[in-house]
Amino acid sequence: MRKAVCPGSFDPVTNGHLDIISRAAALYDEVTVAVLVNRSKEALFSVDERMDMVREATAEYGNVVVESFTGLLVDFCKARGIPVIIKGLRAVSDFDYELQMAQMNHSLAGVETLFLSTNPLYSFLSSSLVKEVAAYGGDVSNLIPQSVARRLSRRLRGEIR
Ligand code: PNS
Repeated sequence: MRKAVCPGSFDPVTNGHLDIISRAAALYDEVTVAVLVNRSKEALFSVDERMDMVREATAEYGNVVVESFTGLLVDFCKARGIPVIIKGLRAVSDFDYELQMAQMNHSLAGVETLFLSTNPLYSFLSSSLVKEVAAYGGDVSNLIPQSVARRLSRRLRGEIR
């Protein structure tokens, strides 16, 4: 079985992430979305909430599973026999750090990284910008799934903790 992993913080998952996950799911037999349990980064959503949102948004794909991870991504990959990390590249500004991580992951454990070019519709999109725009009342409804938009506006209004 050909397996790949799509790692990230997914705080929250955006249409840009989903574009990459769906294209990975078309290329591989099984795609694991690995949600980072952030230690230092302050997340708006808990890891369980972030996993729920990814699960809801990827339910239509029969070959996507969602898990959380801590520690090194390559250790997660090794434990599950996953040889490939899939990442989206939005712009040249992503490239330096992504290249560094890809080379480090290959040197640590021989895990390969496959870069997919982000759909230009989403090249400006990041979870951080979505949260900032939404916090100031901007319309992010075409940038994230509806279920995520509902949770985000409730969280920003302080209705769910
Ligand atoms: O969505 P993000 O926050 O940009 O995702 C970054 C992520 C999770 C892919 C990266 O931080 C990561 O792989 N973290 C796990 C720790 C690790 O393996 N660090 C060494 C990377 S070479």
